[in-house]
Amino acid sequence: MSASELQRKALFFIVFGSIVVAVLATVPFFEHWIQSVFLPQFGWNFSGPWQLAPPEASAPPDMMAPTYVALLEHFFRLLKIILAMALVITVVRFVTHVLFGRAQGKREIGSLIRTVLSIVIYIIAFAIIFQAQYPSVNLGSLFAGSAIFGIVVGLALQDTLGNLFAGIALQADQPFLVGDVVNIPNRGTGVVESVSWRGVKIRTFQNKLLLISNSVLGKESIEVGPKGNLNARIVNFSTLYANSPAKTVQVVRDAVRVAENVSQKIRPIVRIRNLGEGGLEWEVKYWLDDYSKYNDTDALVRQRIWYAFQREKIEFSYPTRTIHVETKPQEAAFDDRINTVTERLNNITIFAPLSDEETARLAKSARIRVYAPGEAIVRMGQEGNSMFVITRGSVDVQVLQGTSMKVVNRLRENDFFGEMSLLTGEPRTATVVAAEETEVLRINKTAIKPIFEANPELVKAISEMVEERRELLRNLNEESSETEKPGERRVLSSIKRFFGLR
Ligand code: CMP
Repeated sequence: MSASELQRKALFFIVFGSIVVAVLATVPFFEHWIQSVFLPQFGWNFSGPWQLAPPEASAPPDMMAPTYVALLEHFFRLLKIILAMALVITVVRFVTHVLFGRAQGKREIGSLIRTVLSIVIYIIAFAIIFQAQYPSVNLGSLFAGSAIFGIVVGLALQDTLGNLFAGIALQADQPFLVGDVVNIPNRGTGVVESVSWRGVKIRTFQNKLLLISNSVLGKESIEVGPKGNLNARIVNFSTLYANSPAKTVQVVRDAVRVAENVSQKIRPIVRIRNLGEGGLEWEVKYWLDDYSKYNDTDALVRQRIWYAFQREKIEFSYPTRTIHVETKPQEAAFDDRINTVTERLNNITIFAPLSDEETARLAKSARIRVYAPGEAIVRMGQEGNSMFVITRGSVDVQVLQGTSMKVVNRLRENDFFGEMSLLTGEPRTATVVAAEETEVLRINKTAIKPIFEANPELVKAISEMVEERRELLRNLNEESSETEKPGERRVLSSIKRFFGLR
């Protein structure tokens, strides 16, 4: 509860409470005025509080007078009971708001205790106030002795009391709290939104509200994914027998552990579930930071596995009915690939000075890799001996600033990255993340070395780019700019040294 809300409630409590107290204090004066001033005008005189004095001998007896007086007396007694109860309710509501209001947002545990406590106080207060107005009525024997009253109340409140007691048992046991994910068989799955004395509100994954009464809930077996707990999920897939299980374990684990919402605290477990008819049947078990998003995370995990398999040439197995055997000479497929890569390399400005033969040689050793949106292609601080040319899509270059990663540049089709580590042997200066599905050509050091030896101008062009990017990184990090200013020449010489060029 916010401070302003508390102030509002306090103001209401003071104003309303004062009005009720004022009216309550005025009632006896009003009663007195009616008995001593108002009614005597009509010949009704009183000998004591609501006690009619015997009529004067001369006046005709009014037969209805005692009934009216009794009615008036009851009216004032009931008015006093109602006003006093209004005061009690106002005080109890305000006090319980102050006591339980704050806890409510987090756990809702206050809600039930508050309701039960309030009801008990109301019953006691009513008994006392009623007894004060009607001392001759024995409330205790009226309630305890009346078997019919018990049966009537019992039948009428059967469900309500059932819910209340089941709710009390739930609160004592606390099998789940607000924010936990619960699955109730045949009813639904969702996040607990509130727990009250009547039942539980669950927000389903279709954003609907599922209301289940406590008494029904008490009879169900419920699966709970507590909010603060590391809950796990299992995702299944299958691969062809030809794929190495060790490699599959490695690839899937690496792909899954970096997916969003997958907990970093426990390493995902990848294991073969079955040696199936169509292939190896696998399961990957992973833990989630936020369990309520498990549907999205399962989907992301499957997506990451697909992309990783594409890159690593691991194939999914699936039952096939029709087999199309396509006979295509191995040689032709290879040539097609080289031609495609050569064509792509020809579009890159820095490779323009290369002869056709050199481009073709580079193309032969280059590998095509596809990355999912959000997937890191290189990570800051890691060693790197390959550079990448973007042939489709775009990437974000991110560096660590303070405690978080900040995007410093976006590179698009025909741009290149990863050249700094490749050329100087230093760790990766930035993390490069695919901004959309991105296809890159990976070129490694051994492939580029002979090209450098034959093309000094290519080394110079790349070192200029390296220096430009270093400058940008230095500007972002002022301390290093004070201590280190290598300059373009220094980049050039360090590239030459690293590659053993003259
Ligand atoms: P490398 O250090 O090997 O790995 C991270 C890559 O991010 C780096 O090579 C560059 O290719 C690229 N990079 C670093 N800083 C920038 C920048 N400021 N602008 C564009 N690309 C950059």
